[in-house]
Amino acid sequence: MGFPEHRLRRLRGSAPLRRLVRQTRLSVDQLIAPLFVRPGHGIRQEIGAMPGQFQLSCDTLVDEVKSIRDLGIPAVILFGIPPEKDARGSGAYHPNGIVQQALAALREQVDGIELIADLCLCEYTSHGHCGVVTGCDERSFHVENDPTLEILAEAAASLARAGASVIAPSGMMDGAVREIRTALDEAGHERVPILAYAAKYASGFYGPFREAAESPPQFGDRATYQMDPANAREALVEMELDLEEGADVLMVKPALAYLDVLRAARERFDVPLAAYNVSGEYSMVKAAARNGWIDEQRVALEILTSIARAGADMILTYWAKDAARWLRG
Ligand code: PBG
Repeated sequence: MGFPEHRLRRLRGSAPLRRLVRQTRLSVDQLIAPLFVRPGHGIRQEIGAMPGQFQLSCDTLVDEVKSIRDLGIPAVILFGIPPEKDARGSGAYHPNGIVQQALAALREQVDGIELIADLCLCEYTSHGHCGVVTGCDERSFHVENDPTLEILAEAAASLARAGASVIAPSGMMDGAVREIRTALDEAGHERVPILAYAAKYASGFYGPFREAAESPPQFGDRATYQMDPANAREALVEMELDLEEGADVLMVKPALAYLDVLRAARERFDVPLAAYNVSGEYSMVKAAARNGWIDEQRVALEILTSIARAGADMILTYWAKDAARWLRG
């Protein structure tokens, strides 16, 4: 005996009925908009590989964050493009660093939205790696773990002092969350949560971001610190450790090719989960849509819904503003 005829189709018969039985409800409350800030004034420079995304200066950033807030989006995450880079990535912790300046301007001029600071060194180091490098060429270089932690701790305190309301370490150094938690607490920022990029893969999907943040590694790749795309169980170990070290929210990144990891994390952990719908996931759709091959709105909402369905509570996405408008109808 099969199903009686119409058994499954009965509840798909009309749009209102489909709304009643919908099992995943994507909401503006889940969205976080990534933004890129650079020195200067009046800058709104479109990123070639990411149509619709811009490098902004502090003044244009303030306007952008206001419009994001007015769309009902609860948070932005900031990435900085510093005026100068050096071997230690000192721009990440400089009291007058680019993100510190941006945070100060936003604190003064915008309220009602969370300001998450991405915390990594790759945008600030001359070599483009996410930590302190020893050795100087492709064959001999090594990204040193513990010396990097000291810099991250200093940068975390500096970002919190400048006004970051959440710190998001993304460098994949072992033990970073503990060091950052300690540094924040010692500096009096006990109330600032840590959103840990816990399971961050060494992914080709970051390609367009490296143009946006001007952060490609000058030699070698990130495979000795970011995760191997083939590993899912290891992601749960990463997440378990980050939780023990004091992470408040755990992130999986990228999102789309790692929905199984997100689902496994959802089943294992009861803390909030974030997923990063990364630059390559965005730009692929943009490029195909520009060619008239797919419908951007339909595909973007399908992607975001899938990420929520897999278990993400919050989604970092370059579609945040568009999605907020689309969801409002
Ligand atoms: C840097 C960082 C990257 C992204 C976010 N933070 C790039 C990288 O690790 O190379 C990628 C985000 C995206 O592709 O949208 N630590």
